[in-house]
Amino acid sequence: MDSLIIEGPSKLSGKVEVSGSKNSALPLLFASILFNEKVTYENIPRLWDVETTLKLLEMMGCGTEWDKEGGRVSIIPRVTSQIAPYEQVKKMRAGILALGPLVAKYGDAKVSLPGGCAIGARPVNYHIDALRKMGVTVEVEEGYIHASIKGKLIGTEILFPEVTVTGTENLLYVGAIAEGTTVLQNAACEPEVVALGEFLVSCGAKITGLGTQTVTIQGTPLVAPTKPIRVPPDRIEAGTWVSIALATRSQLEISGCDAAQMTSVLAAFRQMGAKIEEVNQGTTLKVIPVEKYSPLHIETAPYPGFPTDMQAQILTLLCLAEGRSTVVESIFENRFMHVAELQRLGAKIEVNGNVATVEGPVKFQGAPIMATDLRASACLVLAGLISKGTTKVSRIYHLDRGYQRLDEKLCRLGAKITRVAE
Ligand code: EPU
Repeated sequence: MDSLIIEGPSKLSGKVEVSGSKNSALPLLFASILFNEKVTYENIPRLWDVETTLKLLEMMGCGTEWDKEGGRVSIIPRVTSQIAPYEQVKKMRAGILALGPLVAKYGDAKVSLPGGCAIGARPVNYHIDALRKMGVTVEVEEGYIHASIKGKLIGTEILFPEVTVTGTENLLYVGAIAEGTTVLQNAACEPEVVALGEFLVSCGAKITGLGTQTVTIQGTPLVAPTKPIRVPPDRIEAGTWVSIALATRSQLEISGCDAAQMTSVLAAFRQMGAKIEEVNQGTTLKVIPVEKYSPLHIETAPYPGFPTDMQAQILTLLCLAEGRSTVVESIFENRFMHVAELQRLGAKIEVNGNVATVEGPVKFQGAPIMATDLRASACLVLAGLISKGTTKVSRIYHLDRGYQRLDEKLCRLGAKITRVAE
Protein backbone atom coordinates (compact mmCIF):
# COMPACT_ATOMS: atom_id res chain seq x y z
CA MET A 1 0.00 0.00 0.00
CA ASP A 2 1.60 3.26 -1.12
CA SER A 3 1.81 6.51 0.83
CA LEU A 4 2.65 10.02 -0.31
CA ILE A 5 5.12 12.17 1.59
CA ILE A 6 4.43 15.82 0.83
CA GLU A 7 6.78 18.65 1.78
CA GLY A 8 4.85 21.90 2.03
CA PRO A 9 3.84 24.56 1.59
CA SER A 10 4.02 24.28 -2.19
CA LYS A 11 3.94 26.90 -4.86
CA LEU A 12 3.08 25.44 -8.26
CA SER A 13 3.27 26.81 -11.76
CA GLY A 14 2.77 25.63 -15.31
CA LYS A 15 0.34 23.66 -17.40
CA VAL A 16 -1.50 20.47 -16.62
CA GLU A 17 -3.67 18.29 -18.81
CA VAL A 18 -6.85 16.69 -17.51
CA SER A 19 -7.26 12.95 -18.23
CA GLY A 20 -10.32 11.11 -19.51
CA SER A 21 -13.28 10.90 -17.15
CA LYS A 22 -13.39 7.90 -14.82
CA ASN A 23 -17.15 8.00 -14.40
CA SER A 24 -17.61 8.20 -18.16
CA ALA A 25 -15.03 5.57 -19.06
CA LEU A 26 -16.53 2.90 -16.80
CA PRO A 27 -20.13 2.90 -18.18
CA LEU A 28 -18.75 3.14 -21.74
CA LEU A 29 -16.50 0.12 -21.17
CA PHE A 30 -19.39 -1.91 -19.73
CA ALA A 31 -21.47 -0.93 -22.80
CA SER A 32 -19.18 -3.18 -24.91
CA ILE A 33 -21.11 -6.18 -23.47
CA LEU A 34 -24.04 -5.12 -25.67
CA PHE A 35 -22.17 -6.02 -28.87
CA ASN A 36 -20.57 -9.05 -30.57
CA GLU A 37 -17.83 -7.12 -32.35
CA LYS A 38 -14.65 -5.53 -31.02
CA VAL A 39 -15.19 -2.08 -29.48
CA THR A 40 -12.28 0.39 -29.17
CA TYR A 41 -11.98 3.36 -26.82
CA GLU A 42 -9.64 6.36 -26.71
CA ASN A 43 -8.60 8.68 -23.88
CA ILE A 44 -9.08 5.95 -21.28
CA PRO A 45 -7.47 7.13 -18.03
CA ARG A 46 -4.85 4.96 -16.38
CA LEU A 47 -6.69 4.10 -13.17
CA TRP A 48 -7.27 1.18 -10.81
CA ASP A 49 -11.01 1.34 -11.52
CA VAL A 50 -10.32 0.80 -15.24
CA GLU A 51 -8.04 -2.13 -14.29
CA THR A 52 -10.87 -3.61 -12.18
CA THR A 53 -13.41 -3.11 -14.99
CA LEU A 54 -11.18 -4.89 -17.51
CA LYS A 55 -10.57 -7.70 -15.01
CA LEU A 56 -14.35 -8.08 -14.60
CA LEU A 57 -14.87 -8.17 -18.36
CA GLU A 58 -12.09 -10.77 -18.70
CA MET A 59 -13.69 -12.92 -15.99
CA MET A 60 -16.86 -12.85 -18.10
CA GLY A 61 -14.86 -14.19 -21.06
CA CYS A 62 -14.16 -10.94 -22.92
CA GLY A 63 -10.82 -10.28 -24.58
CA THR A 64 -9.18 -7.00 -23.59
CA GLU A 65 -6.23 -4.99 -24.90
CA TRP A 66 -4.98 -1.91 -23.08
CA ASP A 67 -2.32 0.41 -24.44
CA LYS A 68 -1.77 2.28 -21.19
CA GLU A 69 0.51 4.98 -22.56
CA GLY A 70 -1.68 5.61 -25.60
CA GLY A 71 -4.92 5.52 -23.57
CA ARG A 72 -6.53 2.99 -25.95
CA VAL A 73 -8.59 0.00 -24.88
CA SER A 74 -10.20 -2.62 -27.10
CA ILE A 75 -12.77 -5.12 -25.87
CA ILE A 76 -13.72 -8.29 -27.71
CA PRO A 77 -17.05 -8.94 -26.03
CA ARG A 78 -17.41 -12.72 -26.18
CA VAL A 79 -19.23 -13.21 -22.89
CA THR A 80 -19.20 -16.81 -21.67
CA SER A 81 -20.12 -16.16 -18.02
CA GLN A 82 -22.67 -13.58 -16.94
CA ILE A 83 -21.21 -13.35 -13.42
CA ALA A 84 -19.63 -10.27 -11.83
CA PRO A 85 -18.00 -11.75 -8.71
CA TYR A 86 -17.71 -10.16 -5.27
CA GLU A 87 -13.88 -10.15 -5.36
CA GLN A 88 -13.99 -7.45 -8.07
CA VAL A 89 -17.25 -5.63 -7.30
CA LYS A 90 -16.16 -5.07 -3.67
CA LYS A 91 -13.17 -3.11 -5.03
CA MET A 92 -15.32 -0.88 -7.19
CA ARG A 93 -19.03 -0.23 -6.76
CA ALA A 94 -19.31 0.67 -10.44
CA GLY A 95 -19.24 -3.13 -11.02
CA ILE A 96 -23.04 -2.81 -10.71
CA LEU A 97 -22.85 -1.40 -14.27
CA ALA A 98 -22.42 -4.99 -15.51
CA LEU A 99 -26.02 -5.70 -14.51
CA GLY A 100 -27.86 -3.69 -17.21
CA PRO A 101 -25.82 -4.78 -20.25
CA LEU A 102 -25.79 -8.48 -19.22
CA VAL A 103 -29.56 -8.57 -18.75
CA ALA A 104 -30.15 -6.58 -21.94
CA LYS A 105 -27.93 -8.75 -24.13
CA TYR A 106 -28.06 -12.20 -22.49
CA GLY A 107 -31.27 -12.10 -20.42
CA ASP A 108 -29.36 -13.29 -17.39
CA ALA A 109 -26.89 -11.77 -14.91
CA LYS A 110 -25.44 -12.59 -11.52
CA VAL A 111 -23.79 -9.49 -10.09
CA SER A 112 -22.46 -9.22 -6.58
CA LEU A 113 -24.15 -6.71 -4.30
CA PRO A 114 -21.57 -3.93 -3.94
CA GLY A 115 -21.94 -3.64 -0.15
CA GLY A 116 -21.25 -0.52 1.89
CA CYS A 117 -18.33 1.81 1.43
CA ALA A 118 -16.66 4.66 3.26
CA ILE A 119 -19.17 7.23 2.03
CA GLY A 120 -22.27 5.38 3.21
CA ALA A 121 -24.59 2.43 2.62
CA ARG A 122 -25.03 3.06 -1.13
CA PRO A 123 -27.83 0.58 -1.85
CA VAL A 124 -28.84 -0.49 -5.39
CA ASN A 125 -32.57 -0.97 -4.75
CA TYR A 126 -33.53 1.58 -7.43
CA HIS A 127 -31.65 -0.43 -10.08
CA ILE A 128 -33.42 -3.62 -8.95
CA ASP A 129 -36.90 -2.08 -8.74
CA ALA A 130 -36.54 -0.54 -12.20
CA LEU A 131 -35.45 -3.86 -13.74
CA ARG A 132 -38.42 -5.61 -12.12
CA LYS A 133 -40.72 -3.02 -13.72
CA MET A 134 -39.21 -3.98 -17.10
CA GLY A 135 -40.33 -7.58 -16.52
CA VAL A 136 -37.02 -8.91 -15.16
CA THR A 137 -37.13 -11.46 -12.33
CA VAL A 138 -34.65 -10.31 -9.70
CA GLU A 139 -33.67 -12.35 -6.69
CA VAL A 140 -31.12 -11.33 -4.13
CA GLU A 141 -29.44 -14.37 -2.60
CA GLU A 142 -26.07 -15.16 -1.05
CA GLY A 143 -24.87 -11.60 -1.67
CA TYR A 144 -25.67 -11.66 -5.37
CA ILE A 145 -28.32 -10.02 -7.53
CA HIS A 146 -29.61 -12.68 -9.88
CA ALA A 147 -31.55 -11.05 -12.69
CA SER A 148 -33.15 -13.05 -15.48
CA ILE A 149 -35.82 -12.62 -18.09
CA LYS A 150 -37.88 -15.41 -19.63
CA GLY A 151 -39.56 -13.56 -22.47
CA LYS A 152 -38.68 -10.14 -23.84
CA LEU A 153 -37.70 -7.00 -22.01
CA ILE A 154 -40.69 -4.70 -22.23
CA GLY A 155 -40.36 -0.93 -22.10
CA THR A 156 -42.32 0.87 -19.39
CA GLU A 157 -42.32 4.08 -17.36
CA ILE A 158 -39.86 4.20 -14.48
CA LEU A 159 -39.83 6.87 -11.81
CA PHE A 160 -36.59 6.93 -9.83
CA PRO A 161 -37.35 7.92 -6.21
CA GLU A 162 -34.00 9.79 -6.10
CA VAL A 163 -31.59 10.76 -8.85
CA THR A 164 -29.20 7.86 -9.39
CA VAL A 165 -26.32 8.10 -11.85
CA THR A 166 -25.44 4.43 -12.32
CA GLY A 167 -29.13 3.50 -11.94
CA THR A 168 -30.01 5.71 -14.92
CA GLU A 169 -27.05 4.25 -16.85
CA ASN A 170 -28.16 0.66 -16.18
CA LEU A 171 -31.64 1.50 -17.49
CA LEU A 172 -30.23 3.21 -20.59
CA TYR A 173 -28.56 -0.07 -21.61
CA VAL A 174 -31.73 -2.06 -20.99
CA GLY A 175 -34.17 0.44 -22.48
CA ALA A 176 -32.06 0.79 -25.62
CA ILE A 177 -32.86 -2.78 -26.73
CA ALA A 178 -36.12 -3.52 -24.87
CA GLU A 179 -39.31 -3.85 -26.87
CA GLY A 180 -41.37 -0.66 -26.96
CA THR A 181 -40.88 2.61 -25.14
CA THR A 182 -39.09 3.12 -21.83
CA VAL A 183 -39.54 6.45 -20.08
CA LEU A 184 -37.13 7.31 -17.27
CA GLN A 185 -38.53 9.95 -14.91
CA ASN A 186 -36.26 11.79 -12.47
CA ALA A 187 -33.34 10.54 -14.59
CA ALA A 188 -29.80 11.70 -13.80
CA CYS A 189 -28.64 14.64 -15.98
CA GLU A 190 -24.91 14.17 -15.27
CA PRO A 191 -22.67 14.64 -18.35
CA GLU A 192 -21.43 11.06 -17.90
CA VAL A 193 -25.01 9.78 -18.35
CA VAL A 194 -25.39 11.97 -21.43
CA ALA A 195 -22.09 10.63 -22.85
CA LEU A 196 -23.30 7.05 -22.46
CA GLY A 197 -26.68 7.92 -24.02
CA GLU A 198 -25.02 9.67 -26.96
CA PHE A 199 -22.76 6.69 -27.50
CA LEU A 200 -25.81 4.39 -27.63
CA VAL A 201 -27.49 6.81 -30.05
CA SER A 202 -24.39 6.60 -32.28
CA CYS A 203 -25.01 2.82 -32.32
CA GLY A 204 -28.59 3.28 -33.49
CA ALA A 205 -30.46 3.69 -30.18
CA LYS A 206 -33.45 6.02 -30.23
CA ILE A 207 -33.14 8.16 -27.13
CA THR A 208 -34.55 11.64 -26.52
CA GLY A 209 -34.32 13.94 -23.51
CA LEU A 210 -30.72 13.14 -22.54
CA GLY A 211 -29.53 15.70 -20.03
CA THR A 212 -33.09 16.32 -18.79
CA GLN A 213 -35.08 14.60 -16.05
CA THR A 214 -37.25 12.73 -18.56
CA VAL A 215 -35.47 10.39 -20.93
CA THR A 216 -37.47 8.48 -23.52
CA ILE A 217 -36.02 5.40 -25.17
CA GLN A 218 -37.51 3.58 -28.13
CA GLY A 219 -36.04 0.08 -28.12
CA THR A 220 -34.23 -1.04 -31.28
CA PRO A 221 -31.38 -3.42 -32.22
CA LEU A 222 -27.95 -1.80 -31.84
CA VAL A 223 -25.09 -1.76 -34.33
CA ALA A 224 -21.53 -2.00 -32.98
CA PRO A 225 -19.45 1.18 -33.36
CA THR A 226 -16.94 1.11 -36.20
CA LYS A 227 -14.84 4.03 -34.96
CA PRO A 228 -13.06 4.37 -31.59
CA ILE A 229 -15.15 5.97 -28.85
CA ARG A 230 -13.48 8.94 -27.18
CA VAL A 231 -13.92 9.32 -23.43
CA PRO A 232 -14.69 12.96 -22.49
CA PRO A 233 -12.46 14.87 -20.05
CA ASP A 234 -12.89 14.42 -16.32
CA ARG A 235 -14.80 17.41 -14.94
CA ILE A 236 -14.03 16.33 -11.36
CA GLU A 237 -10.30 16.09 -12.03
CA ALA A 238 -10.49 19.54 -13.68
CA GLY A 239 -12.30 20.92 -10.62
CA THR A 240 -9.72 19.30 -8.35
CA TRP A 241 -6.93 21.07 -10.27
CA VAL A 242 -8.70 24.41 -9.90
CA SER A 243 -9.00 23.84 -6.14
CA ILE A 244 -5.30 22.90 -5.98
CA ALA A 245 -4.32 26.11 -7.85
CA LEU A 246 -6.53 28.22 -5.59
CA ALA A 247 -5.35 26.63 -2.33
CA THR A 248 -1.65 26.89 -3.20
CA ARG A 249 -2.25 30.36 -4.71
CA SER A 250 -0.53 29.24 -7.87
CA GLN A 251 -0.94 30.31 -11.46
CA LEU A 252 -1.97 27.17 -13.33
CA GLU A 253 -3.23 26.52 -16.81
CA ILE A 254 -5.53 23.52 -16.88
CA SER A 255 -6.17 22.12 -20.35
CA GLY A 256 -8.48 19.40 -21.66
CA CYS A 257 -11.48 20.79 -19.72
CA ASP A 258 -15.09 21.31 -20.63
CA ALA A 259 -16.01 24.44 -18.66
CA ALA A 260 -19.66 24.13 -19.70
CA GLN A 261 -19.88 21.03 -17.48
CA MET A 262 -18.35 22.88 -14.52
CA THR A 263 -20.72 25.82 -14.16
CA SER A 264 -21.71 25.26 -10.52
CA VAL A 265 -18.14 24.50 -9.45
CA LEU A 266 -16.64 27.54 -11.19
CA ALA A 267 -19.47 29.74 -9.82
CA ALA A 268 -18.70 28.59 -6.27
CA PHE A 269 -14.98 29.29 -6.64
CA ARG A 270 -15.68 32.71 -8.15
CA GLN A 271 -18.09 33.52 -5.31
CA MET A 272 -15.13 32.90 -2.98
CA GLY A 273 -13.19 35.53 -4.92
CA ALA A 274 -11.23 33.27 -7.27
CA LYS A 275 -10.09 34.56 -10.64
CA ILE A 276 -10.53 31.89 -13.30
CA GLU A 277 -10.38 32.64 -17.00
CA GLU A 278 -11.99 30.33 -19.55
CA VAL A 279 -10.04 30.26 -22.81
CA ASN A 280 -10.10 28.21 -26.03
CA GLN A 281 -13.89 27.77 -25.91
CA GLY A 282 -13.72 26.70 -22.29
CA THR A 283 -11.26 23.86 -22.90
CA THR A 284 -8.56 25.63 -20.87
CA LEU A 285 -8.95 27.21 -17.45
CA LYS A 286 -6.40 29.76 -16.26
CA VAL A 287 -6.29 30.28 -12.53
CA ILE A 288 -4.85 33.64 -11.40
CA PRO A 289 -3.72 33.74 -7.77
CA VAL A 290 -5.56 35.98 -5.28
CA GLU A 291 -4.75 36.56 -1.60
CA LYS A 292 -8.14 36.49 0.13
CA TYR A 293 -11.09 34.17 -0.11
CA SER A 294 -14.64 34.81 1.14
CA PRO A 295 -16.59 32.17 3.05
CA LEU A 296 -19.43 30.33 1.35
CA HIS A 297 -22.60 28.33 1.95
CA ILE A 298 -22.68 25.39 -0.41
CA GLU A 299 -24.94 22.33 -0.81
CA THR A 300 -24.15 19.32 -2.95
CA ALA A 301 -26.88 18.33 -5.43
CA PRO A 302 -27.36 16.25 -8.57
CA TYR A 303 -26.11 17.86 -11.81
CA PRO A 304 -26.20 20.74 -12.65
CA GLY A 305 -25.87 21.40 -8.90
CA PHE A 306 -22.59 21.38 -6.99
CA PRO A 307 -21.17 17.81 -7.27
CA THR A 308 -20.67 15.69 -4.18
CA ASP A 309 -17.41 14.55 -5.83
CA MET A 310 -16.04 18.11 -5.32
CA GLN A 311 -17.25 18.51 -1.73
CA ALA A 312 -14.06 17.38 0.01
CA GLN A 313 -11.90 19.65 -2.16
CA ILE A 314 -13.97 22.81 -1.61
CA LEU A 315 -14.29 22.05 2.10
CA THR A 316 -10.49 22.06 2.34
CA LEU A 317 -10.26 25.28 0.37
CA LEU A 318 -12.84 26.93 2.64
CA CYS A 319 -10.44 26.42 5.56
CA LEU A 320 -8.48 29.29 3.96
CA ALA A 321 -11.49 31.62 3.60
CA GLU A 322 -11.93 34.53 6.01
CA GLY A 323 -14.95 33.64 8.16
CA ARG A 324 -17.50 30.90 8.65
CA SER A 325 -18.58 28.62 5.78
CA THR A 326 -21.14 25.85 5.72
CA VAL A 327 -21.10 22.80 3.50
CA VAL A 328 -24.19 20.58 3.25
CA GLU A 329 -23.71 17.05 1.87
CA SER A 330 -27.09 16.13 0.36
CA ILE A 331 -26.17 13.06 -1.71
CA PHE A 332 -24.31 10.65 0.56
CA GLU A 333 -24.97 9.99 4.23
CA ASN A 334 -21.39 9.70 5.42
CA ARG A 335 -19.13 11.73 3.20
CA PHE A 336 -17.24 13.74 5.82
CA MET A 337 -14.64 11.11 6.72
CA HIS A 338 -11.91 13.50 5.57
CA VAL A 339 -12.86 16.04 8.26
CA ALA A 340 -11.15 14.12 11.09
CA GLU A 341 -7.96 13.95 8.98
CA LEU A 342 -8.11 17.66 8.09
CA GLN A 343 -8.50 18.41 11.80
CA ARG A 344 -5.17 16.66 12.40
CA LEU A 345 -3.58 19.34 10.21
CA GLY A 346 -5.29 22.15 12.14
CA ALA A 347 -8.63 22.60 10.34
CA LYS A 348 -11.47 24.06 12.38
CA ILE A 349 -14.44 22.09 11.12
CA GLU A 350 -17.48 20.88 13.04
CA VAL A 351 -19.82 18.29 11.59
CA ASN A 352 -23.47 18.03 12.62
CA GLY A 353 -25.36 15.44 10.63
CA ASN A 354 -24.87 16.34 6.99
CA VAL A 355 -23.64 19.90 7.67
CA ALA A 356 -20.01 20.88 8.12
CA THR A 357 -19.21 24.30 9.55
CA VAL A 358 -15.76 25.61 8.68
CA GLU A 359 -13.98 28.46 10.48
CA GLY A 360 -11.18 30.15 8.58
CA PRO A 361 -8.59 31.12 7.83
CA VAL A 362 -6.30 28.53 9.37
CA LYS A 363 -2.69 27.63 8.67
CA PHE A 364 -2.20 23.91 8.24
CA GLN A 365 0.69 22.08 9.90
CA GLY A 366 1.88 18.80 8.37
CA ALA A 367 1.03 15.49 10.12
CA PRO A 368 0.43 11.83 9.22
CA ILE A 369 -3.08 11.38 7.78
CA MET A 370 -5.03 8.59 6.16
CA ALA A 371 -7.10 8.54 2.95
CA THR A 372 -10.57 7.04 3.36
CA ASP A 373 -12.12 7.32 -0.08
CA LEU A 374 -11.28 8.59 -3.52
CA ARG A 375 -12.26 12.27 -3.29
CA ALA A 376 -11.16 12.40 0.35
CA SER A 377 -7.66 11.38 -0.80
CA ALA A 378 -7.61 14.25 -3.29
CA CYS A 379 -8.50 16.73 -0.56
CA LEU A 380 -5.83 15.33 1.75
CA VAL A 381 -3.18 15.73 -0.93
CA LEU A 382 -4.43 19.27 -1.42
CA ALA A 383 -4.22 19.84 2.33
CA GLY A 384 -0.68 18.42 2.38
CA LEU A 385 0.37 20.85 -0.33
CA ILE A 386 -0.66 23.84 1.82
CA SER A 387 0.62 22.46 5.13
CA LYS A 388 3.88 23.65 6.59
CA GLY A 389 6.33 20.76 6.96
CA THR A 390 5.82 17.10 6.18
CA THR A 391 2.45 15.45 5.57
CA LYS A 392 2.28 11.72 5.05
CA VAL A 393 -0.91 10.58 3.34
CA SER A 394 -1.28 6.82 3.70
CA ARG A 395 -3.68 4.40 1.93
CA ILE A 396 -3.20 6.34 -1.27
CA TYR A 397 -4.61 3.46 -3.35
CA HIS A 398 -7.93 5.30 -3.10
CA LEU A 399 -6.35 8.14 -5.10
CA ASP A 400 -5.02 5.75 -7.74
CA ARG A 401 -8.55 4.37 -8.23
CA GLY A 402 -9.69 7.65 -9.76
CA TYR A 403 -6.84 10.07 -10.55
CA GLN A 404 -4.29 9.35 -13.25
CA ARG A 405 -0.90 9.83 -11.60
CA LEU A 406 -1.92 12.91 -9.63
CA ASP A 407 1.36 12.93 -7.68
CA GLU A 408 3.46 12.78 -10.88
CA LYS A 409 1.47 15.62 -12.45
CA LEU A 410 1.92 17.65 -9.24
CA CYS A 411 5.68 17.05 -9.18
CA ARG A 412 5.95 18.34 -12.75
CA LEU A 413 4.30 21.57 -11.52
CA GLY A 414 6.86 21.96 -8.73
CA ALA A 415 5.38 20.02 -5.79
CA LYS A 416 7.72 18.03 -3.53
CA ILE A 417 6.06 14.65 -3.25
CA THR A 418 7.58 11.22 -2.80
CA ARG A 419 5.66 7.99 -3.21
CA VAL A 420 6.71 5.26 -0.81
CA ALA A 421 5.63 1.62 -0.85
CA GLU A 422 4.83 0.07 2.54
N1 EPU B 1 -29.33 5.40 -3.97
C1 EPU B 1 -30.19 4.53 -3.36
N2 EPU B 1 -30.57 3.39 -4.05
C2 EPU B 1 -30.09 3.12 -5.29
C3 EPU B 1 -29.19 4.02 -5.91
C4 EPU B 1 -28.82 5.16 -5.22
O1 EPU B 1 -30.67 4.76 -2.23
O2 EPU B 1 -30.47 2.09 -5.86
C5 EPU B 1 -28.91 6.63 -3.26
C6 EPU B 1 -27.43 6.58 -2.88
O3 EPU B 1 -27.22 5.91 -1.67
C7 EPU B 1 -27.08 8.04 -2.82
C8 EPU B 1 -27.93 8.64 -3.94
O4 EPU B 1 -28.99 7.71 -4.16
O5 EPU B 1 -27.49 8.57 -1.58
C9 EPU B 1 -27.21 8.90 -5.26
O6 EPU B 1 -26.42 7.79 -5.62
P1 EPU B 1 -26.05 7.42 -7.15
O7 EPU B 1 -26.73 6.15 -7.48
O8 EPU B 1 -26.29 8.59 -8.02
O9 EPU B 1 -24.49 7.17 -7.04
P2 EPU B 1 -23.67 6.15 -7.91
O10 EPU B 1 -24.32 5.99 -9.22
O11 EPU B 1 -23.39 4.93 -7.10
C10 EPU B 1 -22.10 7.87 -9.09
C11 EPU B 1 -20.62 8.10 -9.19
C12 EPU B 1 -20.11 8.62 -7.85
C13 EPU B 1 -20.82 9.94 -7.56
C14 EPU B 1 -22.34 9.70 -7.54
C15 EPU B 1 -23.15 10.98 -7.34
C16 EPU B 1 -19.95 6.47 -10.84
C17 EPU B 1 -19.22 5.24 -11.16
N3 EPU B 1 -19.98 6.84 -9.56
O12 EPU B 1 -22.29 6.91 -8.06
O13 EPU B 1 -18.72 8.88 -8.01
O14 EPU B 1 -20.42 10.43 -6.30
O15 EPU B 1 -22.76 9.10 -8.78
O16 EPU B 1 -22.85 11.89 -8.33
O17 EPU B 1 -20.45 7.14 -11.74
C18 EPU B 1 -16.50 9.11 -7.28
O18 EPU B 1 -16.17 9.22 -8.47
O19 EPU B 1 -15.71 9.35 -6.33
C19 EPU B 1 -17.86 8.68 -6.94
C20 EPU B 1 -18.20 8.23 -5.75
